[in-house]
Amino acid sequence: MTHAHITAWFLALVLFFIALGLHKSGKAKGFRVVQMILRVFYILIVATGVWMLTSISTISLLYILKSAVGLWVIAMLELILIRTAKQQRTSTLWIQFVVAFLLVLYLGFKLPLGFHFL
Ligand code: HEM
Repeated sequence: MTHAHITAWFLALVLFFIALGLHKSGKAKGFRVVQMILRVFYILIVATGVWMLTSISTISLLYILKSAVGLWVIAMLELILIRTAKQQRTSTLWIQFVVAFLLVLYLGFKLPLGFHFL
């Protein structure tokens, strides 16, 4: 399930940048379509994450923190796209996104399931 989880968030990240690119080139319809597909990926990320949580016998605080930061990353992706579409400022959201993303990678690879090179 870790592979499905990694695939889901990696593809979500790719779609996120595609959506930003489409917005920049003025393709509003394409932007909205990619945004919709991205929302399906949010569900897949959460579903694979929860699936892994159910396979663990004792869920430590670190797992709860990892999941919360994961949800924080998803919230930032969604908010950045919404505010970009409305031509509003996104700088504080971008800072939160970078911090949360680095933290979730650190916690994810540090926790025992799947790869652990940290
Ligand atoms: C965009 C958001 C997210 C990113 C970038 C992300 C990233 C990662 C990474 C890099 C790993 C390590 C995989 C491995 O060791 O092979 C991981 C594992 C995990 N993630 Fe996420 N994740 C996200 C969202 C979530 C959410 C929302 C949840 C919970 C609902 C969640 C729950 C978990 C769990 C339980 C693990 C297993 C931890 C372990 O290695 O023991 N993740 N995630």
